[in-house]
Amino acid sequence: VHHNAQKPAVVVTLTGAAGQIGYATLFRIASGAMLGANTRIRLNLLEIPQALGALEGTAMELTDCSFDLLDGVNIFSDPRRAFEGCDVALLVGAKPRSKGMERADLLEANGAIFSEQGRALNEGASSDVRVTVVGNPANTNALITASHAPDIPLERFTALTRLDHNRAVAQLAKATGVHPRDIEGVAIWGNHSASQFPSLEHATIAGRAALEVLAEKNLGEQWLSKEFIPRVANRGAEIIQVRGGSSVGSAANAALEHVNLWNTSNSVKGPQITSMAVPSTGEYGVEEGLICSFPVTCGGGEYRVQEGLKLSEAGRRRFEKSVEELRQEKAAVESLGLLGNR
Ligand code: NAD
Ligand code: LMR
Repeated sequence: VHHNAQKPAVVVTLTGAAGQIGYATLFRIASGAMLGANTRIRLNLLEIPQALGALEGTAMELTDCSFDLLDGVNIFSDPRRAFEGCDVALLVGAKPRSKGMERADLLEANGAIFSEQGRALNEGASSDVRVTVVGNPANTNALITASHAPDIPLERFTALTRLDHNRAVAQLAKATGVHPRDIEGVAIWGNHSASQFPSLEHATIAGRAALEVLAEKNLGEQWLSKEFIPRVANRGAEIIQVRGGSSVGSAANAALEHVNLWNTSNSVKGPQITSMAVPSTGEYGVEEGLICSFPVTCGGGEYRVQEGLKLSEAGRRRFEKSVEELRQEKAAVESLGLLGNR
């Protein structure tokens, strides 16, 4: 089989490649689950020096798969080399939180990683690079990265909220007894944190307004504010509690879907509304440059924030609270000296 023989391989740089999410992601990337069955891939894997041994083993395993689409695997501990020629960057390498922590508690420990990687992207990434930040706190780490890469268009920097999106779909499906595939229009607004607003206000179930279907089951505002929203917003903490470590398989899956929906014109799941944290250009009154989750439509390397959606009074308030938290995180990293001068 010839996979676009004349097209050069896409360079995918994955950081934290020897970590848990890295391991759950790599083999699926190499099998085509992220960029499609016709796109050849070169993997540039970045780790800290202590993890290069384990990463070498993973690279051997990748070789042992004889993947049709995989043109090469390189491992690095120098970000400047790992991001040279990078087309798709997945920034996963960062410390995960443990029980009792909020994601923002990681800002100081993780922030510096993203300053350095932003500079490396700026120096060496390919002109069409697309960046997805997974390492927490993801929105603000994406802000830090972008601030150090002034030569790359700001809209190329995104953070993952597809995991929250999928969690919201799953909880709605469970409450209404439908399959997730019948649900559309769910959206995550704000930060990938406990303050996020997972909205069902524009969601549909098999074409019917989700709020109407819920009302028939006597699930109204009370259920939204006491059950649904806290369940979704605190699901990361619930997983840590039950599993004894932060989510891995579901996070890897969401990251692949995020990149897939954004960067392929023929996404595995077809055109749909998803949630992505992207640099605000002032949509819904959010201050420019904050990396905020919105409902978006995307494909072919572009995305568009869905504009003109009306949120309820309560929804608006929830969203604004989460945006306020993003502002505070920005101020915090600014005072830690972690922001560059884009
Ligand atoms: P992990 O500890 O298993 O792996 C992290 C890896 O990153 C480690 O191998 C570590 O050596 C590496 N690393 C650390 N500093 C690095 C650097 N400067 N350059 C390159 N690599 C570096 O953790 P994990 O479970 O894979 O989680 C990774 C991150 O993803 C955490 O911050 C976690 O909170 C976050 N996360 C985000 C979401 C989301 O939805 N946005 C979901 C789950 C997890
Ligand atoms: C998640 O949402 O599962 C991740 O962000 C990990 C965490 O710390 O909750």
